[in-house]
This record gives sequence, structure tokens and C-alpha cells, in this order.
Amino acid sequence: MYRLTDAQRARVRELLSRMTLEEKIGQMNQESMSIVGGFDVPFEELIEMLTDGRLPKEEFDKIMSTAKTDYHEDEVREGLVGSLMVQDAEKYNELQHIAVEESRLGIPLLIGLDVIHGFRTVYPIAIAEAGTFDEKLFQRTAAMAAKESRSQGINWHFAPMVDVARDARWGRVSEGPGEDTRLASRFARAKIQGLQGDMSSPENYVAACLKHYVAYGACESGRDYNTASMAPAQLYNVYLPPFRAAVEAGAATVMASFNDLNGVPCTVNRLTLRQILKGEWKFPGLVVSDANAIRECVNHGIAADQYDAGVQAANAGMDIDMGTRIYIKELKRAVEEGKVPLSVIDEAAERILSVKMWLGLFEHPYVSPELAARYETLPEAHLALAREAGERSIVLLKNENGLLPLDKSKKISLVGKLAAERTEVVGAWALSWRESDCVSIQDGFDNAGANYRYFPCCGPEGELDQAQLEEAAAWGDVIVAVVGETTAMSGEASSKADITLPGKQRELLEKLLAGGKPVAALLMNGRPLALEWESVHVPAILECWHLGVQMGNAVASVLFGDRAPEGKLASSFPRMTGQCPIYYSHPNTGRPGGKGKFTSRYLDAGWEPLYPFGYGLSYTEFAYDGLEVKDAGDTLMVSVDVRNTGSRPGVETVQLYTRDVTASIVRPVKELKDFAKAALAPGEQKRVTMAVQKNDLGFFNDAGQYVLEDGKFIVYVGGNSRDCLSQEIEVTF
Ligand code: BGC
Repeated sequence: MYRLTDAQRARVRELLSRMTLEEKIGQMNQESMSIVGGFDVPFEELIEMLTDGRLPKEEFDKIMSTAKTDYHEDEVREGLVGSLMVQDAEKYNELQHIAVEESRLGIPLLIGLDVIHGFRTVYPIAIAEAGTFDEKLFQRTAAMAAKESRSQGINWHFAPMVDVARDARWGRVSEGPGEDTRLASRFARAKIQGLQGDMSSPENYVAACLKHYVAYGACESGRDYNTASMAPAQLYNVYLPPFRAAVEAGAATVMASFNDLNGVPCTVNRLTLRQILKGEWKFPGLVVSDANAIRECVNHGIAADQYDAGVQAANAGMDIDMGTRIYIKELKRAVEEGKVPLSVIDEAAERILSVKMWLGLFEHPYVSPELAARYETLPEAHLALAREAGERSIVLLKNENGLLPLDKSKKISLVGKLAAERTEVVGAWALSWRESDCVSIQDGFDNAGANYRYFPCCGPEGELDQAQLEEAAAWGDVIVAVVGETTAMSGEASSKADITLPGKQRELLEKLLAGGKPVAALLMNGRPLALEWESVHVPAILECWHLGVQMGNAVASVLFGDRAPEGKLASSFPRMTGQCPIYYSHPNTGRPGGKGKFTSRYLDAGWEPLYPFGYGLSYTEFAYDGLEVKDAGDTLMVSVDVRNTGSRPGVETVQLYTRDVTASIVRPVKELKDFAKAALAPGEQKRVTMAVQKNDLGFFNDAGQYVLEDGKFIVYVGGNSRDCLSQEIEVTF
């Protein structure tokens, strides 16, 4: 929980009273290391030139060999930098020393980094981990990452990313908790608890940064950085709640998103920043822009020039400028010219200093050598947690005739380049891992002692090796084909217009299947894929995502049956890319999708996803019965019998959805309200009970007011968002 004591608050105020305007603005400036050398263009442009071919690779390498990294030591000394991005303890201590010992007021630096799903111990990407529906796990992995990164001085994570994302074309679906607002809210809350703890031992915790505020996941057509527009009710009901939940859980910082929302970039958006976040929600922490976003307001066409962009951002409540230096260049003049009130600068500086005070940086600015070395070798407990998280994130999509689990003593042809690539297990936005810690799927086969031979054949890119394929098809009694996307195909700036299996991988599967041996496909990817063909032809499909450093061991446990799959999809899988965005919690039309011609559907893809939100099989089966919904005053008590009807143990995620049948605005056909885990031995039955607060059955209208309307509701309970038992109930508030 982000909260300062009275004494801390008083210290911040006292410090503030001694600061010059320049020093206050300095706190609002965030630098990242820059590469400087014998080139005339900014480093970012150099990268662009390399990417678009203007600069040959050899030229680039030559330039880089003489380039130097600039950490802006001089500006830190002058008090013109409030925060920086650094990755290791040595550099951290060096810079912190300059800030604390050599700057006039000795104000320590905030050091931020993108620690999205783990630091050295990388655990599953968020969209995978969210599918465990386990808040304790979300919290445990976050706490592990916080400890590891703080040991290197990183005291601020640019995480969690809690954007509701409903369009699988958007590459950043990998980084967040998926399509559902309730699951995202629980995820957000748990991550804040894990990252920030209670600050009783600051060396174990960091300040969290909720991002990207807001509606970044609603970017039009799934294209990154694109515009987002929506009615206020949708903003309030779908996109804001995860942020609000995390603010209520005590998040210390928030990052604004790149996109414009209804015509106003979130970087300069007074409605979302001043009115909602800092006003209605009384958020006490600091707000940072996304990288270079203040300057980009000129590109958006909302600011005439950099000065104007800086003025608008500061006045909208943007406390820190990430990366553009516009604040240090322009804000002093803006204050002098009366364009930005001094109170805006004071407020921002106070918020920033408060976070530093709360983090304990004034008392303990440095990292000790013992702390810095603590996680040098990844501790057993961290590896075990990464493995557990990996195993439990795997989703079984199809298992014809009980092909899985495999008997590891059978001859297995392991196919696919991704199976052996250690660097591909960590997924997008993992920055601080080491290849030597990564366990590929092939390594996992070795560690499990499987009887296999490996045939790379092909990967997401490049050609198919026909000879290897024929050998693979001939050798094994069963074939395990690892297919999917490279890490670079999801994450930031990685939107795709076609989300079927890339490259020659479909052909690989076709040819392997033609050989007549049973084929299990293991998917490695960072977004839902369009797998209609595979769902028809491939007998077994395991969605393995990017599971982190323990990926290979986690996959082997599930594939060979040491642990039953229990993951569920946090995001619907479309049949065809053209169905995107597709999500279970959609408002109904006047002509709900159906078989008839004049219904809301596609002629070539129907209206339903291939695999819906919440879907995931086990090696056993679960039956639901005896749904009972009781009105208990302020709550609805919902109970259901869940029975393991198969012959193996398993864990089921029981999901509770509701529908408001008639309301003053069109409401979603289903909304997740709660979920519970049931671990069941073969033949075992449990009665699972969940309580829904009645005041959780309301919704926001276009004026941003939360309303509760009496009437008929349907309660659904099941193992996914499609296949549920249901019961109607009249609710009065
Ligand atoms: C991303 C943010 C990230 C920031 C700093 C931006 O490009 O959108 O998610 O935190 O860079 O690395």
C-alpha cells in the first residue's frame, strides 16, 4: 500500500521548500542511458536507419564499436534528473552516489525498468500467467521479481501492464492479463500486493507502475499506437476498472498510454489524468509519460510544438517526462510566461519526492555488495516458482482419444526449431535474463529422460527441410511438433494482420500428419492464434505460450503427465483473423449470431471464437450439476457441484458469470464476476460456493455514474465462458 507517514510527508514538504524551480523541474525529468558517439543523428534514428535499410549492418557495427553509453552523470549532479533506467547494481550505486553526495540537495534517483514478467528469473508472460486464475500466484511471482530487481537497485517496475486487450492482432496482448475486466482487475491488485508489499523491508519491494493508462488495448484494428475511441460507459465499465482496482490496492505510480482516447492523447488528457485518476480516485502517487510520448503530441497534431506539448502535459497532470527532455527545456519558461502555474510544478515534485521517501531511498540509497550478489545464482525457490507458474499456465486445447499425456519411454520425434531455442522461451519484454538459465523444450526432454530424437525441420521463419521432415515422420512412434511465433512477433510494435501459424509451419504439420503417426502440437506464442485448420486436423494441441526460464521443464511435466494441465485461456482464440476483435463479454445485437442468414455473423467464420475465454481441458473431465443461486440480502450465494468424472486427478477453475437481462443500456451477454479452484481426485465431488455482492451487479452509464437497476439476472457457472449451467434470479437493490 502506497502511504506515507506524517513524518515522511513533513520531510517531503521541508525539502520542497528548499528547492529552486529548476530543481523541481529536474525531478520531473526522466532520462534513459543514451548511446553517444561519432554520429550526427539521435541514436533512435540510427536504429531506424538500420531497420529500414538506410544504414548497412557493417556500418552500424563500426559506429557502435566506438560509441559510448551516456548515463547523464553531469545532469544528475546538477539536480536536473529525477529518474533513470539502469539494470545493474554497480552502475546504480555509482549514479546514486552522484545524486546523493554530489548534487546540491542530495535527492536520490528513482531507477525504473521494464520488469514485466520477471527479472533474472523470468516466469510466464502475463497472458499465460493470467490463465492460471490464481491471485496468490500472481502475487508470488511479482514478489520474486521485486526482490531480484531491487537487489540491483531497481526500485521502480514499469509493471503491471493491465490493459484489457480484445484484439489478438495487437502484439502487446502478450504483456497483459487478457480480455476480461474482472480477471485483469484481480491480476492488477495481486501484482501491486506482490511488488509493493508493505514496504516493511524496502530491499524486497519496488514501486509498481500501472500501465498503460488508458484504453491502449482498444487501439483500432489492433495496430499498435493507434487511436482508441469509445463511449464513456465502455471506458468506465471495461477499461478503467483494472486501474481503479490497483489504485485502491495502493499502486504508487501510473504510466499514461501512447494512444489518443476520443481525440485526446492520454499524455495530455485532463479527463483521464486530472479528473478521473487524481480527482475521482484520489490517486496520491505520480504519473509518468510513456517513452517520448510528450514529444509525440506534436505528431498527434494536438500540440503546435514541443513547448506547447510540455505545457499541455504538465497542466494535464503528467508528473514525469520520460525521455524527451521537454520539461527541462521548456517548463521554466512556461512557468515564467504564466502558461503553467507554479502549483502544477510543486504538485508534481511533491508526488515524486513522496514516492522516493516511501521507498526508503533517503535512508538507504545504496545497494550493499551482499544484496547485489544475493540472486547472482538463481535460488532454488525462484526456479521452483517459475516452473510451477509455467506448468500451471499451459492450456490443453484439444486431446483426441487421450493422446496426451505421452509415455516418455515411447520413441518421440521432437520437431520444430523453436523446440531447441533457449532464447525464445522468455517472451517479449524480458530484459535481464541469461541464456544459461533458460531451459528449452529440448532441454526439458533431456532432463525428463525422454526417449526422443530431435529434427529442427523448420521454424516460424524460413524454409522447410524436407529430408529432416521425412526422417522425423519415419523415426518416432509419436511426433511432438513445436510451432508458433518467435518472441519478436509479439510485444510492442508487433501487431499482425494475419495471426495464423507463420511461415511453413502449417505445411510442416500437414506433412507430418500425412505420415500417419499421431501428432501433438505444442504452441509457443505470445498472442491467441487463428487455429481453425489445426483444431480440425491435429489430434492434440497444448498451448504453451512463452513460459520463461523454466519453460522446457514445465512443458515436460505436463506433456509426460507429472502434472495435469489446468490453465485456461485469458483471451479468446478466433477461428480466422478477420473475426478480431472477438471476446466473450460482448453486448448483444438485435440479431444475435445464429444459423439464420440475417444474424450478426460472418458468412465464412460464424460468430463464435474457436476457443472461448476461460477454456482449457485437463487429462480428466469435470461435470457440473446442482447449480443453486440464493438471495442472501446483500449477496447472491451461488453453489454448484463439480465432479471429477475421469480417471486422473485434476484442478478445475470454476467460473461464475452474470448477465443483466434488461437494463437502461445494452449490457454484455456475460460478465465474469468470480472464480474458484477445485482440486479433485478421480471420482471426487465438491460443492463450490461463491458469493456475489449485489452492488457488484451494477454498471457505469455514460455520465460515469455507477447505477444499480432492479430486475432479472442470469447467473452462469461453468468451466469456461461458453459451456455453463444457468439460473435466473430477480434482484432488487
Ligand atoms: C513502452 C512502455 C515501457 C517504456 C519504457 C515504451 O515503449 O510502451 O511499456 O515501459 O517504453 O521502456
